[in-house]
Amino acid sequence: MALGREKLERMFKISNLKWKTSITKVEPNRITTRGYPQEDLIGNISFPEMVFILLKGELPEKNEARMLESVLVSFCDHGVTPPSTQTARIMASAGSQLPACIAGGLLAFGKNHAGAIERTMKLLQEGIGRSKDRIEDIAQEIVNEIFETEEKIPGFGHRYHNADPRAPRLIELAKENNCIGIHTQLAIAIDKILFNLKGIRMNIDGANAGILSDLGFDWRNGTGIFMIGRLPAIISHVYEEKTREEPFRKFFDIDEIYYDGNDEKRILD
Ligand SMILES: CC(C)(COP(=O)(O)OP(=O)(O)OC[C@H]1O[C@@H](n2cnc3c(N)ncnc32)[C@H](O)[C@@H]1OP(=O)(O)O)[C@@H](O)C(=O)NCCC(=O)NCCS
Repeated sequence: MALGREKLERMFKISNLKWKTSITKVEPNRITTRGYPQEDLIGNISFPEMVFILLKGELPEKNEARMLESVLVSFCDHGVTPPSTQTARIMASAGSQLPACIAGGLLAFGKNHAGAIERTMKLLQEGIGRSKDRIEDIAQEIVNEIFETEEKIPGFGHRYHNADPRAPRLIELAKENNCIGIHTQLAIAIDKILFNLKGIRMNIDGANAGILSDLGFDWRNGTGIFMIGRLPAIISHVYEEKTREEPFRKFFDIDEIYYDGNDEKRILD
């Protein structure tokens, strides 16, 4: 059937536009996010609810918003131990501007630091798709497969803690908020197997990966959600470094640096 002239014109005009977004519509004197005027959102919803609207396109139930708030709080800070915080503080000490220090810290997030949340969410979300009747059987299959590759299972174990205190608290809150679903159950089933086999426990990423997956977040948003929670801490560390420490301070003693390159050479004999 031939398309009407008006529809054709509309399609042609839209396809010629350079930016397409379903997040926020900006018109003179009017800003609507996911359909809600921002002046209605301001003062009426919490920050986690806003995160939900932005990332998922809809307002959460109250229990889901409370749960996301706890997840964001749990990501807040881990002292000066993480590479991102160290990077931000070293840059601050070098005299870099705040935005550069923050960007440097965030750029230090990689596979081995902060990357576990996304990898665990992917593991759980894909794991649930496996054709097994019992979650315990899926958990066992996942553990067997990863053990064969000699890789570590993301979301379990920790460099500093034998038992990451944040994980059981998050699971407890997920139960209280009625936010436990199949993904968190799968994480709990893996935890039981790994504890029996290796004595290691679920860490913050394992707990949050299950919870965020049960809240319906795509695993591709995992690191982003981690960053939302961690950003205030990175700002705070940069501020502390700039206001409390000597500029350009020594982070390592010269004795801690060991040169194992070539012996001294000369260009001319
Ligand atoms: C963080 C990590 C590197 C610590 O590893 P580690 O220093 O070897 O930890 P432990 O000494 O407590 O390990 C004890 C045993 O459990 C094993 N183990 C530790 N974490 C494991 C994991 N996630 N999957 C499988 N086995 C693991 C170790 O290989 C070791 O086995 P072994 O006794 O046979 O040698 C590791 O747990 C890991 O890579 N975890 C996954 C990534 C992750 O979730 N990171 C986020 C941390 S918040």
